[in-house]
Parts: sequence; structure tokens; C-alpha cells
Amino acid sequence: MDPAERVSPSAKCSVVRPHEVCGIESPGPCCMVVFGASGDLAHRKLLPSIYRLFARGHMPDDFAVVGTAMEPWDDTDYRARMRDAVKEAAPEDYSDEKWARFARNLYYVQGEFADDAFYARLKARLPGIEAEHDTHGNRIYYMAIPPTVYEQVVKGLGEAGMSSEDGGYTRIVIEKPFGRDLESSHRLSAALGVSFTESQIYRMDHYLAKENVQNILMFRFANSIFEPVWNRQYVDHVQITVSETLGVEHRAGYYEKAGVLRDMFQSHLLQLLSLVAMEPPSAFEADRVRDEKTKVFTSIRPIPEGRLGQYVVVGQYGAGKMSGKAVPAYRDEPGVAKDSDTPTYAAMMLFVDNWRWSGVPFYLRSGKRMPRRAAEIAIQFKPVPHMMFRGVLEETIEPNTLVLRVQPDEGIDLYFQTKTPDSKVCLSEVLMDFAYERTVRLDAYERVLIDCMLGDQMLFVRADGEEKTWEILTPVIERLESVAGTTELPSYPAGSAGPAEADALLAREGRRWREL
Ligand code: BG6
Repeated sequence: MDPAERVSPSAKCSVVRPHEVCGIESPGPCCMVVFGASGDLAHRKLLPSIYRLFARGHMPDDFAVVGTAMEPWDDTDYRARMRDAVKEAAPEDYSDEKWARFARNLYYVQGEFADDAFYARLKARLPGIEAEHDTHGNRIYYMAIPPTVYEQVVKGLGEAGMSSEDGGYTRIVIEKPFGRDLESSHRLSAALGVSFTESQIYRMDHYLAKENVQNILMFRFANSIFEPVWNRQYVDHVQITVSETLGVEHRAGYYEKAGVLRDMFQSHLLQLLSLVAMEPPSAFEADRVRDEKTKVFTSIRPIPEGRLGQYVVVGQYGAGKMSGKAVPAYRDEPGVAKDSDTPTYAAMMLFVDNWRWSGVPFYLRSGKRMPRRAAEIAIQFKPVPHMMFRGVLEETIEPNTLVLRVQPDEGIDLYFQTKTPDSKVCLSEVLMDFAYERTVRLDAYERVLIDCMLGDQMLFVRADGEEKTWEILTPVIERLESVAGTTELPSYPAGSAGPAEADALLAREGRRWREL
């Protein structure tokens, strides 16, 4: 039966005792150097996020933003461009008066990342700006550049002597993807390690900063009633889904080389898995939490090479309809090769081989052009051990499910059985539904910017964890790429829930994916 039909009226949860002291922490003074200031990320996300923090009073009083890129701009050009970007991306917070106050903190240094003279120029310019804005020697380098040039910029900064800390902090933010396989991620870590220590490196995965992802640890470890059943004795399996309605958009250049496993699984999905599967850390501290995550990655059973098909299904979207509108196949998207074998969908079965999770499958799936935008983690509990209603009830009783909804409607759903009123023996599945009754105040970018300024690495990926995730995925990716072109890549129509082969992955074990 369709879950929508099964579930009767929902019981809403409301906040009974909010904690009053919780607010957004205020970071201290800081100068942020944005590499790639003319790029898409800086325009669409980064500058608007810094501006929004400023407009809402969360930036320190003393701050500066120094944009760097190849464009022959000066400070005035940069400010004008960024004003347009902010107006477009953060119209609700924009006002000319606020912008004028914000823009006084923006500067621009032009240069080519391959040119040593650029780093010398930047190095010479920064102290004046930092003195003017009294940023206490605190500096953040934000890599809003293609991952292919990370190493070059990191090397340039190191060789120019700009990675050291002198009175304040020096931090560097890089965004996923951190390399494209185990070897390249090693190279990147090694390049970073030449000039920066791990405590200076902030590897950002914006999924970790989503509100209900941060909530996973609170939910698990600030309640005593869930943890006792959070294990192989009670959990049948776990489903982690990140489905997108968007196609490849204008990112074919990157996506063609990445595909869904590098783009979504290596960091986003495996990070979610680690939060669900990890043991309680001894303290709510960045390194204690990251230790536990790494242990989960270490415990993931390698996928047997000869039996890949039983563990992994990939697919690519064909033409289809999204909200009634025809959309092209992936291979007909601009910039995509007509014979592309890049997967836009993957489903995977993983096992965490440890005491808690032995034998419990974790099913992960993610795809583009799916019917609904959703990110959620479903903990599917086992059926009751003894069916005392057998012979009285016609239907089988659906086991309990707990769903952590990450987006778009952040919240938590608990499905359970209740007696249907008036009937002697009739059960209804009901839904207890907790929704965050507020629009999220900090988006993921704003959260990580604040945490980076505060020096809190909890929501950032540590080198050992990153390496382990590549160890899990690299053999899978290599194997799939080695047979690309020789075997037919399963296709799914845009707007559908993925290839039929992905259903078979669960059906073999008598399970099915949650409806999208
Ligand atoms: C990015 C991927 O990391 O995450 C994109 O590169 C994907 O391909 C995006 O679309 C999804 O993020 P969100 O926050 O929209 O779910």
C-alpha cells in the first residue's frame, strides 16, 4: 500500500522548552581572502553569504574581504560587481545604506594564480588593509576556485610565506571535491601539509552544515530513548537518499569528469552515513566527533570486486518530464558527450562491520532529475518479534520507521502503529511529525563561514576521514570506469525514481526503497 494512504492524521510536535541561551556566536575580527573572486561560487554563494551575515549583524565589526582573480578590476569595479551579485542573491537583505557600509570593507587584487609575482603583490597589499580594519592578524583564505588549481594556489601561498601564523590565525577553506580519487586526494593533502597544519585546514562539505544534519548528533545523543534501539538488534536497515530535481545544468565540464559517485557519494552521502552510524564521542568537540566518523569509514566493508553488481547500481537520466515539462536526456545537455557514460544516479549497499551494525545494510542513493528534491535518512526498524495479531489482522504490520528529513522540510518523522478507534482489532499507522517551525536563519555557507572564523572544525572534514572515503569509493569508480562503453549503462527517464536495477538491489533482500 502507498505510504500516503496508510498513514492517518499526523500528530504534530511542538517545542515545549526552548533553550534561551542559544544564539549565533559572534566571531572576532578577520580578513577573508577570496581566491576566484570573479567566479560563479563567489557571485552566487560566497559574497552573498558574507553580506547576509553582515546585514544580520553576525559579521565582526572589524573585517575585510579581499577578492582575487584574473580580471583586470580595481576595488571600485569589484565592489560594483559584488553589489550586483548580492542584489540578485540576497535581495531580502539588500539596502543601499547597508551595502555602502559593507562595500567599504571590500578590496581587490588582480593576478594569475600561476604567477609568483601575484602572491608577492597580495602579500604586500594585505597588511595595509588588515591594519585599516584592525583584523588582528586573523586571516582566512577561501578557495572559491576549481579544484584543479587548489594545489597551485596552496603552493603559491606557502612559497610566499603566507601560510604562517603571526599573532593571529591563518586558515584555509577548500570545498569538495577534495581530489578525484585516492591518489589525487593524497596529493592535495600532501600539498596542503607542506605549508598548513591540519588545524589550519577547513575542508568544507556544505551538507554537514545543514541544520538537520547538525541535529543528528543532538537527536541521537541528547535523548536516551533512541540510542538503545540504534543498533543491529532493532534496526533492519538504513536508507540515505539525496534526490535532486535539477539536471546537470551548466556544469557539464565538471560533471562529465566527476559523475554522481564523486560528486555526491564521496563526501555528502558518506558523511551522512558516518553521523548515523558513529559511536557517541566522549565530548562534543571537533576532533572527538571526527575520530568517531573516521572509525565508521574504517569499518565499512570494501565492496567485493567481483560482485560489484550486487552492491552498486549506476544509471543516467534519459529524456523525460519534470513537473509536466519535457526535459532533455543527460546526453543531450549542453557540453555533454553524445556517448557519455557518466552516471547521474547511483544506489549502493554498504555494511559497517562493527559490533553495533553487523549485518545491517545501509542503502545509499542519489540522483539528478528525480521526481522530488529530498535529502533524508530513514531508519527502518525490524518488525515486532512475535505477531500476536496473526489470524486476527489481515494485513502485515508495517515496522516502525524514523525519518530524519534534511531538506526541503527539515524535521523528524516517526511512523508507528495505533489502534483504530471503535474497531476491536484494527491498526492504523500514524505519523508523529516534528518540523522546525522557523525558516532557517543561517544557511549552510553562513554556518561554515562563522565556524571557520570561530575556529570550530566540527563541521569540516578531516584528512583521515577524507582519505578513508576515497579508499572505499576509488576501487568502485575505477571498476565502473573500466567497463564503461562495454556494458550498457542503465537509463531512467527524467522525473522517475531511478533505474529499475536499483529496485532490484533491495528487492533481493525483500526490501523496497521509500517512495520519493
Ligand atoms: C554539490 C554538488 O556538492 O551539491 C551538486 O556538486 C549538487 O551537484 C549539490 O547539486 C546539492 O546540494 P544541495 O544543497 O542543493 O542539496
